[in-house]
Amino acid sequence: MIPRYALLRRVLHWIVAVLVIGMIPGGLIFTEFDNRDAIEGLFGAGSFNRFYDLHKSVGVVVLALMAARVGAMLVWPAPARTPPLSPPVRLAATVSHAALYVLLIVTPLLGWAGVSAFRAPIPVFGFFEMPPIAPQDRELSRWLLDLHSACAFAIAALVTIHVAAAFWHRNVREDTVFYRIGFGRRRPTPGE
Ligand code: HEM
Ligand code: HEM
Repeated sequence: MIPRYALLRRVLHWIVAVLVIGMIPGGLIFTEFDNRDAIEGLFGAGSFNRFYDLHKSVGVVVLALMAARVGAMLVWPAPARTPPLSPPVRLAATVSHAALYVLLIVTPLLGWAGVSAFRAPIPVFGFFEMPPIAPQDRELSRWLLDLHSACAFAIAALVTIHVAAAFWHRNVREDTVFYRIGFGRRRPTPGE
């Protein structure tokens, strides 16, 4: 039998994947504040701030899900690779997965800290607000949010490579890598 990631790890992978793939273009809305008029023209008055709050709320959810993911990783380590990957491919997978974990924790933390330093509220879907985690300082806020943006672009680059690699395993090598994180039936694995 080909082992898979634990069910909770697979579920968390796909929820976070959908949220993060949405967050990247979503976040770009804020880069240019000129977008405010265009967005409010399309979606109505106040919509820009609602999108902004949505970005913050989803970002906080990603942070919470990543905490759960770290816990799940400690409880259920990655399954054995059958058949094993070549050492360079295994190394590339380990390094890129580790980098994604770090970035997916650091990026929302930088967003949270940057908005805290600006002293703007962080309402989570209108249910509660996140407390500030940085002193009020506009310069610090700018610096933290610039770093937030840089990390978000790094996530976008890594995810692009990650998805390309996943389909390379699935469609070119036709190995078991895609199956490990999925829910469907197993694809054939010639050469096993
Ligand atoms: C994994 C989670 C997150 C991702 C992937 C993400 C992604 C992004 C991206 C792509 C941008 C646009 C950057 C640019 O074009 O320069 C952005 C901007 C922004 N994000 Fe996030 N974000 C996340 C979480 C958060 C959180 C939790 C907060 C706050 C609580 C937040 C607050 C902001 C703010 C304030 C901006 C505007 C920054 C600026 O004015 O330069 N983000 N985010
Ligand atoms: C269409 C989108 C995606 C596909 C097809 C995909 C595919 C895969 C596959 C096949 C694996 C298993 C690798 C192995 O054998 O170890 C995996 C693991 C992983 N993926 Fe993705 N992925 C996608 C999106 C994402 C996104 C957007 C992120 C980050 C936000 C991400 C982060 C990870 C991480 C950290 C792992 C390591 C296993 C874990 O702890 O969940 N993936 N992915």
